[in-house]
Amino acid sequence: MVFLYKTTHEGQTRRGLFCGGSIVEPLHVVTAAHCVERLLETEIKVYAGKLDSNIDLIEPYQQSADVQLITIYESFVSETFHGDIAILTLDRPLNFTKGVKPLCVPRSGNTDKDLKPRPAKEPSFKYGMVFGWGVTVTQNFRESRVLREVKLPIRKQSFCTAAHPGMTKLMFCAGGLLKQDSCQGDSGGPFALWSARSQKWWLAGIVSWGDGCGDPTKPGVYTRVGTAVRQWIYNNTNIE
Ligand code: ARG
Repeated sequence: MVFLYKTTHEGQTRRGLFCGGSIVEPLHVVTAAHCVERLLETEIKVYAGKLDSNIDLIEPYQQSADVQLITIYESFVSETFHGDIAILTLDRPLNFTKGVKPLCVPRSGNTDKDLKPRPAKEPSFKYGMVFGWGVTVTQNFRESRVLREVKLPIRKQSFCTAAHPGMTKLMFCAGGLLKQDSCQGDSGGPFALWSARSQKWWLAGIVSWGDGCGDPTKPGVYTRVGTAVRQWIYNNTNIE
């Protein structure tokens, strides 16, 4: 898990942490397209191995890298957030340590059922984990200082599209129980599924959008890392 830090003051967004991302191999980070579509490579710094969002507080596993190239998913539509995924190519490889690790990306042909962001028959749910430094209290819009995680149920696509008419096939929704949700600042971060079969965490979704935060009737929306998106990730990275 990494966070994206904006290094400049110009433009609409301020300096500081603005989104999350997932390491998929030493030189590549996956994030949301809407996080980076209006930015230049030189405006983004990637911080890995951090728990605290304060970049001046040096933590044991901390590493940072500059961005050499932003690659936005070819069918991303910025008005609807359809295909909200991008890849950042770093200027130098991250070292994998206890505190800096990649998340697995399923191959397109992978048949492990654990890796499908498909809801179980309600009321029993299939759960994924979301990580980020996003807003915890919507009243003050203050981002979290420490990295947080939450376990969220994947909801039925029909329930999701009823709650969010703007949803497309490249999205799924999760949450809506216990008022738990992702929120502003969490975008780009992983929605990860645990596979009992491989004993590993896999990237199944990316924090993308919502309508407010924590509203039980409006679960957060995630980019679906399905067959086409997985293939695109493999084509644009050096994952083996
Ligand atoms: N678009 C937001 C971001 O840029 C993510 C919002 C997710 N919202 C939600 N209710 N789950 O950080």
